[in-house]
Amino acid sequence: MNDAAPHDALDDNRQGLIGTPVDRVDGRLKVMGQATYAHEVQEGGPTAYGFIVEATIAKGTVSQIDVTDAERCEGVYLVMTHHNAPKQAPWGPLLAKDRFARSAPQLANNRVDHYGQAVAFVVAGSFEQARSAARLIKIRYAESAGRFELAPNLDRAVIPAGRPGREADSRVGNFEPAFASSTLQIDARFTTPVQMHAQMEPHATLAYWKDGQVIVHCSSQLLMSAKNAVANTLRIAPERVRVVSRFIGGGFGGKLPIYGDVILSAMAARILKCPVKTALTRQQMFHFTTHRSDTIQRVRLGANADGRLNAIAHETWSHSASFDNFYESAGMQTRTLYAAAHRLTTHRSVSLDLPVSDSTRAPGEAVGMLALEQAMDELAEQVGIDPIELRVRNEPLQDPERNIPFSSRQLIACMQDGATRFGWSRRNAKHSAVKEGNLWVGMGMAAATRGNLLQPSKCAVQFDDQGVLTVRMAMTDIGTGSYTIFTQVAAEMMGVPMAQVRMEMGDTDFPPTPGSGGSFGAASAGSGLFDACTQLRTKFARKFGVNAKDVTFAGGRISGAGRSETLASLAGSRGLDAVGEIKPGAMVKKFSQQSYGAHFAEVTVDGDTGEIRLRRMIGVFAAGRILNLKTATSQAVGAMIWGVGAALHEHAVIDPRYGYFVNHDLAEYHVPTHADIPAIEAYFLPEFDDKTNPLKIKGVGELGICGAGAAIANAVYNACGVRTRDFPLTLDKVIAGLKLQNTLSTAGVPPHFKS
Ligand code: MOS
Repeated sequence: MNDAAPHDALDDNRQGLIGTPVDRVDGRLKVMGQATYAHEVQEGGPTAYGFIVEATIAKGTVSQIDVTDAERCEGVYLVMTHHNAPKQAPWGPLLAKDRFARSAPQLANNRVDHYGQAVAFVVAGSFEQARSAARLIKIRYAESAGRFELAPNLDRAVIPAGRPGREADSRVGNFEPAFASSTLQIDARFTTPVQMHAQMEPHATLAYWKDGQVIVHCSSQLLMSAKNAVANTLRIAPERVRVVSRFIGGGFGGKLPIYGDVILSAMAARILKCPVKTALTRQQMFHFTTHRSDTIQRVRLGANADGRLNAIAHETWSHSASFDNFYESAGMQTRTLYAAAHRLTTHRSVSLDLPVSDSTRAPGEAVGMLALEQAMDELAEQVGIDPIELRVRNEPLQDPERNIPFSSRQLIACMQDGATRFGWSRRNAKHSAVKEGNLWVGMGMAAATRGNLLQPSKCAVQFDDQGVLTVRMAMTDIGTGSYTIFTQVAAEMMGVPMAQVRMEMGDTDFPPTPGSGGSFGAASAGSGLFDACTQLRTKFARKFGVNAKDVTFAGGRISGAGRSETLASLAGSRGLDAVGEIKPGAMVKKFSQQSYGAHFAEVTVDGDTGEIRLRRMIGVFAAGRILNLKTATSQAVGAMIWGVGAALHEHAVIDPRYGYFVNHDLAEYHVPTHADIPAIEAYFLPEFDDKTNPLKIKGVGELGICGAGAAIANAVYNACGVRTRDFPLTLDKVIAGLKLQNTLSTAGVPPHFKS
């Protein structure tokens, strides 16, 4: 993609499929229980079942492990420990180009790096037999002291390795003196807790070997990375690994990496010469998979009396597993969202002896916006202007750090449209001004933004003499609606009904795609598909004998030069096929690409108990062309609900003594339930961004979470005057704030933040 995308068949939208809220093509399969998820796959012969035994210490070594009783149990085929595990490649490398393709060995030695790490693996004739035998394994540990908390360890923070264009630090101008000389100053410290992906479908794997190749059915967002990770770990050629993931019950970043269920199943299946199936329990999900790091963030805003920002700084501390280098990129949006001559963002990583922290829905922005957008709310109050007006006054003309134009940017339009829909003008700017009985009532808003990405992707299409277009790519549908939107695109491109399109995805035997992640799935895989269809149209035109630009595709026919023929007959018995490809190019360097939006929330706060209730919430977004209004709206609403969870509920509590998450199940790790969620509305503004990709779309999956929680926090402040900068906003914090009424916002900054 080196130039703006030209006018194309999707713009013509002859069948009207693009943008319409069509139902999910896999909806029927799913509600009938016929969409097969990894754990439900039966393939490769009689299956053995694995159970993972997790370390009950967070740091140290396994000094003794006695498996005799377990091995004697009925039905047990294999007990694997570090004594008998096959040799694998060492973990890493640390700075791999694709960190989700890194070698991830299991039971490699007796070292324990985090609570919940695999220390043994039992395979038996049934899950129950494996689990019951696992309980008979006797393990002695030599435990060493670990570090488990971020705040007490900030002195050990290091600068994490960034990537080109995403360096850990950024500086423009001279922040410190500019901030010091600003008329108005906000200097606020925020904390966000560890959060979990909490997908509906826990990880599960069925692995078996056939003709020297391992076939892995698992729940993976990134199939090619998963394939390479297995190959790298087991030291076999990638061609000897096939990963299949046809239906996925939610990813949210937790299925970007693969875990021990994949590797242990693959190794055991090789030894036992039979399929091995391993599922993680819900409780195991908390320690055995990744989580979002907690963060400490300091946001400083220096502004003139009229609210125009002169200096803006966003500094973030997060944790990483002792052997990894991840950091929560919470300051990224602050590099591009608002104008200011003097700018600073930093990211620091603290190595802790916790399970691996990694991407969770909108890594960076999701928690970064909780801080930045509250700070902006505080500044608006200081200036004495509406929070929307403050953002309008700080709208940059171009990307303020990269000094390149935006591909498209409708932040102001989103705020204004949302304000009208929401009835923002009815908000009382003074906090603690509206009370209904015992309930304080407040309204808050926040901006939304997320970076837009494009990754290399390929796709194969084939048209047969029955008029069926088959699309193949190693793309995943993690529940977002990928099958559906690609069916719409393919049908619209070829001028055939959606029922004539057969989408085949979720298999590494198909052309490689980057998979689902970073909200780049629709744009990347969709552009590969678009190119494949474009090539196929050219082939049809050639066979038809008319120039490609002079033909139309509609009703299953190609027409032009006064003639018309069915595609089926033109394809003939041999069919017609094409391969397409998208490569990101100069456009990402020439244009700053983000999606935008605005959140509006109304809450009540109980004057006695501090209980916060969300009354209503509206999000308005601009994210390029919307392919399917129904699936896009679902993404936005779901993401906003994540924002509600971040604001009010979610908190994986670390036991500072033992380094594990105390509330490691869905009874105690609270996510919003139906009773917590009133009607949430999401809208999209018309937008066609021809700089982003051939589809002129932007990612929508992660946008809706960005800023959503801040709108709620700002509404809570507007309701009752309590500014809680430590998420989640639980009753204890609100009550404490109600008692202190108005004194919290002047709380001092801890010593380690003093510059
Ligand atoms: Mo996303 S956190 O890349 O699934």
